[in-house]
Amino acid sequence: MTPKGSKAETPRGSAGPAARMDALVAEIRRHDRLYYELDQPVLADAEYDALFAELAALEAAHPELARSDSPTRRVAGAPVSHLTSVEHRTPMLSLANTYNPEEVLDWRDSIADYLKLEGEDREALSFAVEPKLDGVAIELVYEGGRLVRAITRGDGRTGDDVTHIVRTIRGLPLELAGKDAGADVPELLEVRGEVIMTRAAFQRLNARRREAGDDLFINPRNTASGTLKSLDPAVTRERPLTLIAYGLGVTTGFAPAGHWDAMEALAAFGLDTGAGHRLRGTLEQVLAHHEALLARRNALPFEVDGSVIKVDDAVLQRRLGVRSRSPRWAIAFKFPAQTGTSILREIQIQVGRTGALTPRAVVDPVHVAGVTITHVSLHNRDEIERLGVKVGDRVIIERAGDVIPHIVGVTEKGKGRRFVMPDRCPVCDTPVEEVEGEVVVRCPNARCPAVLRRRIEHYVARGALDIEGVGEKLIDQLVESGLVTSLADLYSLTEEQLAGLERMATTSARNVLQGVEASKTRPFARWLYGLGIRHVGEHMAEVVAEHWGGVEALRGVDRDDLLGVAAIGPAVADSLVAWLADEHEQATVDRMLAAGLSPRPPGAAVAGGVLGGRTFLFTGTLEHMTRREAQEKVKAAGGKLLSSVSKNLDVLVVGAKPGGKLKKAQELGIEVMPEQDFLALVDGED
Ligand code: IVH
Repeated sequence: MTPKGSKAETPRGSAGPAARMDALVAEIRRHDRLYYELDQPVLADAEYDALFAELAALEAAHPELARSDSPTRRVAGAPVSHLTSVEHRTPMLSLANTYNPEEVLDWRDSIADYLKLEGEDREALSFAVEPKLDGVAIELVYEGGRLVRAITRGDGRTGDDVTHIVRTIRGLPLELAGKDAGADVPELLEVRGEVIMTRAAFQRLNARRREAGDDLFINPRNTASGTLKSLDPAVTRERPLTLIAYGLGVTTGFAPAGHWDAMEALAAFGLDTGAGHRLRGTLEQVLAHHEALLARRNALPFEVDGSVIKVDDAVLQRRLGVRSRSPRWAIAFKFPAQTGTSILREIQIQVGRTGALTPRAVVDPVHVAGVTITHVSLHNRDEIERLGVKVGDRVIIERAGDVIPHIVGVTEKGKGRRFVMPDRCPVCDTPVEEVEGEVVVRCPNARCPAVLRRRIEHYVARGALDIEGVGEKLIDQLVESGLVTSLADLYSLTEEQLAGLERMATTSARNVLQGVEASKTRPFARWLYGLGIRHVGEHMAEVVAEHWGGVEALRGVDRDDLLGVAAIGPAVADSLVAWLADEHEQATVDRMLAAGLSPRPPGAAVAGGVLGGRTFLFTGTLEHMTRREAQEKVKAAGGKLLSSVSKNLDVLVVGAKPGGKLKKAQELGIEVMPEQDFLALVDGED
């Protein structure tokens, strides 16, 4: 049976109250759609309310013209005093689940075996796949096309009557489409689905709450579940819910041939079935769809924790039947979890390179999205206030994609006390400074060992001065022994001093000294970056180097000179001016220069470089350097880089497994150079 999808309205003329009421209904629906589905509201709340009020007034004045599907009928009713338990006609089951594609294939085999399917019939099994929504399962009961009851899943047999809340869900049909036109609507239709809050609605809700100074909600799922349990339906005005249908309960006068047809029919009745996110096909197609959903996981309009795969055919579903708690014909194929919970044991304070004090949560080890997490940054004091976290709380940790883990909220309160940001640096005990207009608290002591450690780490890092062999352990020793109290001290280290340190053999000491020596002639931009001047990142350092080329020139600039460069904004200019005026910093620079440091101005090597203006391109996997390092070496040695093989290319440097570029270069007769030979050429080593 196919229900009629379109609504045939009784002609109501083009003028007069009926026409205006029709227009208002259509207009309100359009705005509901813009707001809820497309997340592009065009009306202010008050304007929307005015449309609504006008429609309600017309309906009150002309009750005979009021439409049964009018949005005003969705208006929140009176609060209920308690939630009533209601039994489901047939239990709401749960699902077997897996994280493993092999097990999905095993599941298909077990089904085919159970159904005694052979050969082609096995291959021909058709499945439906749809997102596994992370919300609250619910059953809607439509009798004669009219919504009479909504019950939460509860324990599967009995749930709570939440009709008062569900009636307010915009976009949810209180009457099945087609009913007014006398179309065939089932006598009894139990629809099952998930009540969720879309990410957009959740973000809007929290944005409003933040503005109002109210506590923020943790995640869409908890908000949907809390909202559904409330006694007062007026809450959904603030906290809009969405219902997405995914199945059926008991029905009379409705017997679709399979899951897909059932969903299409529900969509035609006016229910949201998440069309556009579901698919019917072979298991292979279904698995590909699962992968596609996973890839778009964080871009989907709602939170999804996997996909649900179902045997499509209703007859086969019946033959497969149910085990104790879940049907044999469906399986949840879950995505790796992006959140986990853990107990917050301690809030540590880290002192960064700029002296910023950053609180960091130490949590019991928890596995989230493929990594074990033991520490999570809490950013700053305001963030701790916002989250309301205290030591001893059970917190929700999220790690979406490659993103650094963060705490989303608290699920269980512990007995800890409110966190207070220290007023002294935990490392050097200097009173901290608060900068007006910034949430960050800083240790102002330029000689603070923690700041110094971070500054050395940054100075010797690859993108900066690239001094090999200087790792965390050595840095700790250098700072603790007092051998290094400023970056300039790196240039006065001796072999004896280094060899005297724990776990430092003479060879490693020599290597470190060689690295320090080599750092003296790194490009000016990298040295500037390495100094760790606030707001001067790699790119900004290049910009400054391009304009002033060397220390002496830079020392002659003032704020206006800096602001004269388009790429330099006030924050960078102020920071550079402050650095130039800082006696301690400048003394460090003087000592470096005195020790023989001589950063290379941009383009300086080009004239005399060993590559003498020749053009280079890299292909394949480089084994002794990163692509970026390779490219820097070309530039440093006076070569030029090209981005594709053409007759303008002089040398193609090849790493392991070179691709099509090699073939093309050979065709054009271009010189092909192994990675090792390139290194020998530019570094003079082999
Ligand atoms: S079908 C008989 N489809 O997952 C099969 N469930 O673990 C019953 N869920 O309580 C469920 N999205 O709340 C089905 N597309 C989907 C779903 C889905 C989310 C939830 C549902 C159920 C739980 C079972």
